[in-house]
Amino acid sequence: MKSISLLTYGSLVCAASAFVLPQARDSSSNSTSTNSTIDDTVVLNFALTLEHLENAFYTGALNNFTEDDFINDGLPSWARGRFEQIASHEQSHVELLTSALGDNATKACNYSFPYTSPSSFAALSQVLEGVGVSAYAGAAQYVSSKSYLTTAAVILSTEARHAAWVAGPVNKENPWNGPFDTPLGLDVIYTLAAQFITSCPSSNPSLPVKAFPALTFGDASPGQAANITADGVSTDGQYVAFFSGLSTIFVPVQDGQVVVPNKTISYAVLTNSNTTADDSTISAGVAILQFPFNSNGTSLSTTGESSMNVRN
Ligand SMILES: *[C@@H]1O[C@H](CO)[C@@H](O)[C@H](O)[C@H]1NC(C)=O
Ligand SMILES: *[C@@H]1O[C@H](CO)[C@@H](O)[C@H](O)[C@H]1NC(C)=O
Ligand SMILES: *[C@@H]1O[C@H](CO)[C@@H](O)[C@H](O)[C@H]1NC(C)=O
Ligand SMILES: *[C@@H]1O[C@H](CO)[C@@H](O)[C@H](O)[C@H]1NC(C)=O
Ligand SMILES: *[C@@H]1O[C@H](CO)[C@@H](O)[C@H](O)[C@H]1NC(C)=O
Ligand SMILES: *[C@@H]1O[C@H](CO)[C@@H](O)[C@H](O)[C@H]1NC(C)=O
Ligand SMILES: *[C@@H]1O[C@H](CO)[C@@H](O)[C@H](O)[C@H]1NC(C)=O
Ligand SMILES: *[C@@H]1O[C@H](CO)[C@@H](O)[C@H](O)[C@H]1NC(C)=O
Ligand SMILES: *[C@@H]1O[C@H](CO)[C@@H](O)[C@H](O)[C@H]1NC(C)=O
Repeated sequence: MKSISLLTYGSLVCAASAFVLPQARDSSSNSTSTNSTIDDTVVLNFALTLEHLENAFYTGALNNFTEDDFINDGLPSWARGRFEQIASHEQSHVELLTSALGDNATKACNYSFPYTSPSSFAALSQVLEGVGVSAYAGAAQYVSSKSYLTTAAVILSTEARHAAWVAGPVNKENPWNGPFDTPLGLDVIYTLAAQFITSCPSSNPSLPVKAFPALTFGDASPGQAANITADGVSTDGQYVAFFSGLSTIFVPVQDGQVVVPNKTISYAVLTNSNTTADDSTISAGVAILQFPFNSNGTSLSTTGESSMNVRN
């Protein structure tokens, strides 16, 4: 199965399980209020929250790992230099959004990332860049200023290049999932981000977002039944909504299991509705559920086997 893909190296299996999204542990921002107007200041601060996180992620990893560390871990010698370019892009995104927001700009938090090696860092980079793309795609509808929309579009397309580069040349997986990326709602994105945030300045504006309880998949492969568990939430009578680009596939949960669609999917959430999967119907998630495929479209997952170490 692939809760998250990539990971050639046995030691990464544990790190990977951290990507299955434990309950968000950000206690500093308000995780219960969902109701306030989402204006441009809120959307830009939401984007800036993610850019601060990415900036800290790359800066910290590059401080820790030398080019030799990358090479010794099986990564290409040129990878570190490109990651430095990405780090500098994220810093520029932080500066641009901060300058647009002026006094309203949210500040950087403290973070904790679960990578332990250059290759698990590269695996998490692939996840974060994909989440960044889904965040900008999902938040676009809330932007009212056309010039901010252009700013968001050019950041989004750059994050998509990062995502394609790290997934393809570095991690040797599919550089795209399909013809459309998957837009995600603010609460879903916040759920993904919050698990890496340990504390924030108390002066930061509180954003109208909340984190959902974790949704965890057992071994999963396309077309097969998979066990699921949701943290503190009953799955009885609920549905799993599988996101595949602009489509959502609803599958009823039966006895704690769902049949995973035989499609290119990227994320899954638990919902109380079989027609709508948004911040008002989601009860747990989001799980990152991606089944990598090679250039012939052949799945790189091995059905029924522990999955985290399949890559070719
Ligand atoms: C979070 O929001 C709830 C409901 O709006 C409010 O009662 C609570 O005081 C807020 N907590 C913080 C830390 O802002
Ligand atoms: C937001 O909260 C106010 C006051 O509690 C309420 O009247 C309004 O319906 C809420 N809006 C949404 C979108 O939940
Ligand atoms: C800061 O936010 C307030 C309230 O939304 C707004 O009136 C003000 O224009 C914002 N300032 C900047 C620099 O965006
Ligand atoms: C990165 O370096 C910091 C100290 O600079 C250390 O606390 C942290 O554990 C290191 N992280 C990894 C993944 O090696
Ligand atoms: C980050 O952590 C340091 C060391 O624990 C602490 O001094 C600082 O106040 C924290 N910063 C924020 C923004 O939470
Ligand atoms: C999934 O679909 C492909 C064709 O699109 C087919 O070859 C494969 O057998 C299907 N797998 C399952 C488990 O249904
Ligand atoms: C689901 O869980 C049951 C009970 O733990 C186990 O016997 C079964 O093999 C699991 N199924 C899958 C598809 O992992
Ligand atoms: C969707 O849910 C409704 C009840 O909310 C139910 O009547 C209907 O059969 C469900 N459809 C599917 C395809 O599960
Ligand atoms: C893709 O298919 C071609 C022709 O069938 C084959 O030569 C090639 O090895 C395959 N590539 C991969 C990555 O499986």
